[in-house]
This record gives sequence, structure tokens and C-alpha cells, in this order.
Amino acid sequence: MQNKSIIVALDTTNLGDTKLLLDQLDPAKCMVKVGSVLFNAEGRAALDLAANAGFEIFFDIKFHDIPNTVEQSIRSFKGYPIQLLTTHISGGKSMLKAALEAAHVIDAKCIGVSVLTSMSSEEMHAIYQQDTQTLVTRMFELAEHVGLDGVVCSPHELVTANTMLAQALKITPGIRNHTNPSDDQTRTMSAHEAIALGADYLVIGRPITAAPNIAEAFAEIYTSIHG
Ligand code: C5P
Repeated sequence: MQNKSIIVALDTTNLGDTKLLLDQLDPAKCMVKVGSVLFNAEGRAALDLAANAGFEIFFDIKFHDIPNTVEQSIRSFKGYPIQLLTTHISGGKSMLKAALEAAHVIDAKCIGVSVLTSMSSEEMHAIYQQDTQTLVTRMFELAEHVGLDGVVCSPHELVTANTMLAQALKITPGIRNHTNPSDDQTRTMSAHEAIALGADYLVIGRPITAAPNIAEAFAEIYTSIHG
């Protein structure tokens, strides 16, 4: 298990709200995710804010373009304290190799997104003519072939990921310690279960960020996995 296995998703849309959130988190106990919500709203200032507050960053921007564009985009983040960044495995072998090489130039680990957990099997079939399990297996094979540093996957794919990608980091969203009938995350798992199944990092948003007491909600989840 990683020391900072919880990654809190900063899905905020302005720097003020982001700062309020960061003030209630401890950079010694968690990393933070800067993804498309915050990055599209505030750009690199969001990375600066998190970094200046002492947090390590999971830059979940899901790069997906031609190899040269992905490589140049990633290299432009040299100097930022980005520990992990994401790219879509469906971008193909050449793009993944370019992303991996560029990530290492900026001292980040390159993490492949397999299949978005929001995709239904009907949607997946309409695009790829394959079922979820087959497609996820293909994506993991490609991640292994290229030597990606890790994958983002549903907690329900951790067993397959551990078998196929023993050395790679496994990062999983969809974590819920308490069920909520109005939640949009459906195939959830508790933090403790996901870590027991081999997850290295858990990306957790609303169970922490929308809680009435953010520090308390974080502490409860942290204790459930670290004791
Ligand atoms: O609020 P919640 O815990 O559902 O947030 C989960 C975070 O993980 C969000 O930032 C979401 O974008 C991200 N994520 C996800 N499912 C994926 C990939 C990323 O929920 N397949």
C-alpha cells in the first residue's frame, strides 16, 4: 500500500473553493487530483495552488491525441510536481510510448485509462463490438506491452489487473464506504475492500469533498485503510 493511497479529487471550478478544500486536507496524508473540471476552469494556477500547499498531484487530464502532440503537451509541464498523469490506452501503442517517454522526462508516472466506467455495455458494443471484459483485457494487454507505470480501473477490475499487470500501479475511483441511493457511481466498493484487492491509490471525491465536515470524512476513510 502506498503511504498516501487516498487521492482527493479537486473537482472544484474556481481557486477560492479549491483553497478552502486544500486547507482542510493534510499533504502528508493524501495526494490531490487535478482533472478536467478544475484544469479547464483555472489552468496551471490550479497546479500551482496545490503544489504551493505541499500536495503531490495526480494530473488526470487523460491525454489522447497524435503521439507528437501528446509528447509536447506532457513535456510542457516540466518543473511541476506532477507525480502521476493519465492518458487513454485507446490512443494506441505509438501514442502510449510517446506519453510514457515524455512523462518520465518530467519525472511523472504515466497511467493508462482503460475503459471509462461510465460506459454501458451497449455503448461499448456500439463503438468496439466487444463486451466490457474483453475490451478491458485488451487494454491491459496493451498497457503491459508498452510498459505503462499503471492503470486506472474500476475496483471490480482489480483482480484482472493484478493478474495481468502485477508490477503496475492500480488506481481506482468509485469508492464508497456508505451507500447513497442518489449516487451516480453505481459499481462501487469500500476503501478497505479496494485496498485489500490490490489498489495502490483510491480516487475519492464527493464522499470527502461534499461532506459536512471534510477533515472528519477524510479521517474516517483514512482510518478504515491505515488503521
Ligand atoms: O465524487 P467521486 O468520488 O465519484 O469522484 C471520483 C473521481 O474519480 C472524479 O474526479 C471522477 O472524474 C473520477 N473518475 C471516475 N471514474 C472513472 C475515472 C475517473 O469516477 N472511470
